[in-house]
Amino acid sequence: MKIGICSDHAGFEYKSRLIQHLKDRGYEVKDFGTNSTQSMDYTDVAHPLAEAVEKGDADLGIALCGTGNGMAITLNKHQKIRAGLAWSTEIGELVKKHNNANILVMPARFIPFEDAVKITDIWLDTEFEGGRHQRRIDKIPVRQA
Ligand code: RB5
Repeated sequence: MKIGICSDHAGFEYKSRLIQHLKDRGYEVKDFGTNSTQSMDYTDVAHPLAEAVEKGDADLGIALCGTGNGMAITLNKHQKIRAGLAWSTEIGELVKKHNNANILVMPARFIPFEDAVKITDIWLDTEFEGGRHQRRIDKIPVRQA
C-alpha cells in the first residue's frame, strides 16, 4: 500500500513526523512536498497529490495545511478525489466509514501532533461501510456537460 502525502509550510513539521510514523507502520510513502517551513502555495503540492491518487500511483493520500481548508478545497476539484477534513478521531473514522475519503486532510495549526497520528491511524484502519453510502458517493462527481 502506497500513501502519498503533502503539506504546505504550516503542515511541514507534522508531515515530516507523520512520514516516519507511516513508514514504521510498514507503508510505502511518496512525499509530494513541501520541503521546508518557507511560505508556499498549498495548490502547488495538492494538485500533484490528487493526480497521483486519481491515476493509482498512490493508493491513498494525506494532506496537511494550517486549517486544512485550502488543501480540501483544492483536492476536491478533482473528480475522483474525496478529500475529507478531520480534526478528531471520531471524524477520522467516519470520513472513511461513510465517505470513503481517499485523501485525509488535517488542520496542522489546530490539532496536537499526537491527535494527527491517532486520526491517521483510525482512518487507515477503518473499512468503508458501503451500502447507502456507496449510493451517495456515486452521485458526487459533476456530470460532464
Ligand atoms: C497558511 O498561512 C495558511 O493559509 C494555509 O496553511 C491554510 O490554512 C490555507 O487554507
